[in-house]
Amino acid sequence: MTELPTSEPAVTEEVPYAITDPCYIPAERYFSPEFYQLEKERLWSRTWQMAARLEEIPEIGDFVEYRICDETVLVVRTGEHEVKAFVNACRHRATQLATGTGTFAAGEIVCPFHGWSWNLRGESSYIYGDHAFRADCMTPEKLRLRECKVDFWGGCVFINFDLAARPLADALEPMPSLLDPMSVEDMKVTWWRAIEVEANWKIALEAFMEGYHVMQTHPQLSFWMGRKFSSDFQTYHHEKNGHSWVQRSPQYRALMLAALAKSAAADGASAAEMTKTQRDQLRASNANLLDGLWAMVEQKDQDVLDAMGDVEVPAGQTFADLYGDAIYDYALEHNLPMRRPTPDVKLRWSGIFQLFPNTIILPQYGNAIQYRSRPLGPDRCIFELIGLTLKPDGEQAERAGLEGVFAADDEAAFGLVPRQDFGNIEAQQRGLRTRSHREQRLSDVYERGISNLHEQIDSYLATPL
Ligand code: FES
Ligand SMILES: [Fe+2]
Repeated sequence: MTELPTSEPAVTEEVPYAITDPCYIPAERYFSPEFYQLEKERLWSRTWQMAARLEEIPEIGDFVEYRICDETVLVVRTGEHEVKAFVNACRHRATQLATGTGTFAAGEIVCPFHGWSWNLRGESSYIYGDHAFRADCMTPEKLRLRECKVDFWGGCVFINFDLAARPLADALEPMPSLLDPMSVEDMKVTWWRAIEVEANWKIALEAFMEGYHVMQTHPQLSFWMGRKFSSDFQTYHHEKNGHSWVQRSPQYRALMLAALAKSAAADGASAAEMTKTQRDQLRASNANLLDGLWAMVEQKDQDVLDAMGDVEVPAGQTFADLYGDAIYDYALEHNLPMRRPTPDVKLRWSGIFQLFPNTIILPQYGNAIQYRSRPLGPDRCIFELIGLTLKPDGEQAERAGLEGVFAADDEAAFGLVPRQDFGNIEAQQRGLRTRSHREQRLSDVYERGISNLHEQIDSYLATPL
């Protein structure tokens, strides 16, 4: 395969429905079988992709199946610090070797059809009657399981079908430098659920890539900022290699204080009352995520807030600054592997970090929610939600994994916030199918990350294998 350069890939072929203007995304990119086929052949075949979380395979021999388009891969723990990803097809007659999740007992991978077997290194370990096969069909190389390239970041196993792909660390830059200080790599799964929807994988992903929809889709989350939510409080970033992120603006603190002072002056509030207002707002927005998302805020974070009592906020700081420090103190006391949050980290709490092509992480206070969107066809996808939090050092994490696929309106499976988001996904896909609506129209500020994702997809699609 041809490895893509780290930036500015050579564009050698015309891409159908290509992005020519970041403010417009052609509708066919979301349902054309031709476009889907090209993504399958030229994107998924050579992009680094999150294939598993490490907690899915804690013990040697544990495996989880990863599926993307027509590919099936077994991600297997082969050593304490080693994972392999085998193409899930027997070297005899291509039968899938395993499905779902499980453990290869005694370190043997056994084909269910005629019993050919392999050790965890992928080497052939047993074939009944090999004398009856022609010798040149039986070389160790022909019998060895096919592998993908494997690397790790952020508690996840990433794979690449292209064995010549550039290192994962290069492909992910600069996201680890933004997310590592937020202790993402030490977070563990609290819950993991999925929906399957009649929508392209990008439509599902894009529903979570910007904060512009919050005021309309989740009015309860922007209750105190009203309609100024996106424009005044966030900054938008995108990278040439397809990643993007949204975070609080460096002016966030000043804007909050100014808004507070304005309303306080109107109300004639004292400093103590202003602090109380900030604490009440924080408590309410925490509650919206704790009760409505079931991630990004955990009960312990509300308990820390309640335990703070009447604190005096030094000039130039906000109550939230002190709260961030109190969360860190709690983590230290309870052996949570949390790094001390710097002012930069605090600005990134509640941000949206999209890792090209199909993963998103929203970290806050040592917790996070992670999303992954995978195609099941041109206009069908599986979208996963993974709650994450820091657990005490040394605490044995239980084997985690996808609990199941649930209906998008299942109130027992999902909180209010994701159910609100899910409501937009199929509605948008249907709108894109209408004959008069040939494109999405995007803001080149709030939604630039979306066109950036598409531009990077085009870089892959334009480069033949
Ligand atoms: S197909 Fe696997 S052993 Fe025959
Ligand atoms: Fe949302």
